[in-house]
Amino acid sequence: MDVKVQLAEALSERIGVPAEELEGWLEVPPSPEMGDYAFPCFRLAKMLRKAPVQIAEMLQGEINLPECFASAEASGPYLNFRLDRELQAKTVLERVFDEGEQYGGSAEGNGKTVCIDYSSVNIAKPFHIGHLRSTIIGNALYHIYGHLGYRCVGINHLGDWGTQFGKMLCAYKLWGNKEEIDKGGVQELVKLYVRFHDEAETKPELNDQARYWFSKIEQGDPEATELYYWMKELTLKEAESVYSMLNIRFDSYAGESFYNDKMDRVVRELKEKGLLKEDQGAQIVDLSEWKMPPCIILRSDGATLYATRDLAAALYRKDTYDFEKCLYVVAYQQDLHFRQLFKVIELMGYAWAKDLKHVSFGMVSVKDGTLSTRHGKVIYLKDVLNAAVEKTLTIIHEKSPDLEDKESAASMVGIGAVVWDGLYNSRIKDISFDWETALNFDGETGPYVQYSHARACSVLRKQKPDCSHIRYESLTDPQSAALIAAIDAFPAAVLDAAEKNEPFVVSRSVMAISVAFNRFYFEQRILDDDPEIRNARLALTAAAAQVIRIGLGLLGIAAPERM
Ligand code: ARG
Repeated sequence: MDVKVQLAEALSERIGVPAEELEGWLEVPPSPEMGDYAFPCFRLAKMLRKAPVQIAEMLQGEINLPECFASAEASGPYLNFRLDRELQAKTVLERVFDEGEQYGGSAEGNGKTVCIDYSSVNIAKPFHIGHLRSTIIGNALYHIYGHLGYRCVGINHLGDWGTQFGKMLCAYKLWGNKEEIDKGGVQELVKLYVRFHDEAETKPELNDQARYWFSKIEQGDPEATELYYWMKELTLKEAESVYSMLNIRFDSYAGESFYNDKMDRVVRELKEKGLLKEDQGAQIVDLSEWKMPPCIILRSDGATLYATRDLAAALYRKDTYDFEKCLYVVAYQQDLHFRQLFKVIELMGYAWAKDLKHVSFGMVSVKDGTLSTRHGKVIYLKDVLNAAVEKTLTIIHEKSPDLEDKESAASMVGIGAVVWDGLYNSRIKDISFDWETALNFDGETGPYVQYSHARACSVLRKQKPDCSHIRYESLTDPQSAALIAAIDAFPAAVLDAAEKNEPFVVSRSVMAISVAFNRFYFEQRILDDDPEIRNARLALTAAAAQVIRIGLGLLGIAAPERM
């Protein structure tokens, strides 16, 4: 167990405040000579009606110190704790080497399934940078839950149905050219879509034509169907090339159209349960009691909607996968949609409605404002990734002229930089993507972490440690102890990340390990002349490299050995 948790529990026993709260009070003293952890007593003064200084003294005498701590010492209003560093080194490194690639994982998810709906791109629309966060947050959660033993089902809920396909077909019939589209891909389709919207502003009759074309798709008209599938395939091919750059795969591509024949059941059930109401010809579920607009199930012309398909999808997923949790990694703009969806499922009497979670996130902008499909100012994710690789290649040519296979390193580092950038902050924060920040090898970036890992690998290429007997006493200096503490905190970070559906908790932990490793690398001679010291430091280096690699893997980022 994390030493901080142990300490918080020991304190809690004496004070009666819950350990989870006390854990948050614990600080790291400004200088390592003072100790490894400090507990400030100010906040207890009121509760215990004593001066903080007295409280610190009292606790020093009364606390039942966990085994991994060597001492507790009152210093003014603080109680400072010193770890038994040798024991700590032994406990942590043995665990890292025993658990190997599983380090940081657990069995808590065994026998349980998590469905993760992420990326969920739209057919015939650009795979733009706005989908980046859903894609990488979902992928990170997929790996994080997997590390905790869950069976994960990655679902790409494709936006492959709806009236917009009528518009696409209509635009194609009017102005399209098959060869151009086959060559230019989705970008050409988007042009048609944009043109349709521009022209429909002055020629509203185009919208009637679009409706006509959509009804042809719905009725399975051969020409319309063929065009529809052609556009779908084209978009998917392009999306898959991005997924392969990001090393992402899905277990299911069941998108909106997959539920075409599964919505009758939803409508029937809603009717039977007395939830459906007519409103101006449409069928709705009234949610006014929960201060939400109604959830529209059928339009007045009988057409189903996004929400209808999501209801069918939720029921299907529960039936098919019997999930413990179903996550929807979708931008915060759809907050209302998901609140309505979850409420309707609850009203249908399904207790598992509470297991549906909207994992929402903020906007991505690329300096020149937000991104939008309609107005043509789209930034394609693929272009961003390619540019990242190219820019990284230039940097590698400068920094490591002798590196073999610069291209593959550049691809791992460039793409890793973009992914890291999207995972380093709490989801809900809007992020503004900026090349200089993301590709700065000295900042809090993906390349910095990858570089720390490669640096450790390079030391280990010179000599491998013998991990079967390590003199742990050689790892009690402040830098080694700090690195060990950072490695020790990793498993708790993985758990916490899953609990909050926040991959950035893992990123922060991996960053802390990398920073601590670099301090250790600069302050301590790893390849010391004394063989015992050298072996111990090499073992710690190996542990750090392993945990950074595992952490990057959970985030969906490669860990090159050379760069
Ligand atoms: N295709 C949608 C969009 O791009 C996201 C779909 C999210 N998943 C869902 N089950 N609604 O906005």
